[in-house]
Amino acid sequence: MRSKLFQVVGLAGLFGSTCAIKLASSLQVIEYTPQPYATKNFYKGQASIVNGGVASLPSDKTVDLGANAEYQGLIQYGTHKNLRMIYTIVDVPYRIVANKAAGISTLADLKGKRVGTTPGTSASYFVKKLLNSAGLKDSEYTVVSGNPCMKAPCGSGTFPAQIQAKTIDAFGVWEPAPELGGQVLGDSAIFFQNATVFREIYSLFTTTEKLNDPASRKAIVEFIRALDQAIDVFKNKPEEVYQFVAQTMSMDTATVQAIWPVHKWAGTLGMDMDSNLIDYMVEEDVFVASQNRRQPMTRDIIAQFVDNSVISDARNASYLTT
Ligand SMILES: *[C@@H]1O[C@H](CO)[C@@H](O)[C@H](O)[C@H]1NC(C)=O
Repeated sequence: MRSKLFQVVGLAGLFGSTCAIKLASSLQVIEYTPQPYATKNFYKGQASIVNGGVASLPSDKTVDLGANAEYQGLIQYGTHKNLRMIYTIVDVPYRIVANKAAGISTLADLKGKRVGTTPGTSASYFVKKLLNSAGLKDSEYTVVSGNPCMKAPCGSGTFPAQIQAKTIDAFGVWEPAPELGGQVLGDSAIFFQNATVFREIYSLFTTTEKLNDPASRKAIVEFIRALDQAIDVFKNKPEEVYQFVAQTMSMDTATVQAIWPVHKWAGTLGMDMDSNLIDYMVEEDVFVASQNRRQPMTRDIIAQFVDNSVISDARNASYLTT
């Protein structure tokens, strides 16, 4: 009895040392939830998730993987060329919610209106792209700053509190804020999105140092295998995860279900729907560069940012991680 217990503890300890992995993600976004789901249900080693993101990788060498929108990835890659984008968890064509009572029934009607978003984030790029696609110049609408509210009751100054107070006519940011905006506007709500024009490409990032270190690489590949299993459930059996996501985010299950279709669970990179990933980021980096006072990166440099080899290893059964 005693020796059996010792063996179990010993094995767990071994696994912990070979497959321990540390992730950094914003814990405030639905996009991150497949990570704790994979950790809880599929990853065999020890995994910890700390609040952070791709910016954690250069600042904390104990972090193996950082998760963020490609927008934050480009900001960091601009000054840290050892970063690599290795896996896309979810594509999210963000939504603008607008107040029909302010005379808005098409995107073009946002001309001259006050549009809320969060500067320095993928959402600010989204609003610009979507309004530009409707023929509006940047000077033809007013950007109003604020932060998204993730669950009611929403604090003053947040989205949707600002649209309720009529200090803005519309706002565009990640979920569930637009959904909550729709709830406060009721029949007066109208939504706009266009995945061709904009989608957040929420992804995992690591460093060349981690990928070149055999032990770190094995743990990363093993985590991607676990994440593939998690994404499969999120994509194909969502009814099994609504409650997990709601609990993880302290949201109600009805809101999670309402915003589910906005999230295109991916598990890809430079394949399938992400086949134009590099071109998409080359265009996006022109804006990211202007916001970060640097020159846009060339297509060749951005192509080096994307590393398909981890997904290849994860899906190659002969790549052994234990
Ligand atoms: C989305 O944007 C593309 C490119 O601008 C455009 O051709 C298409 O009509 C738009 N779709 C919708 C539903 O507005």
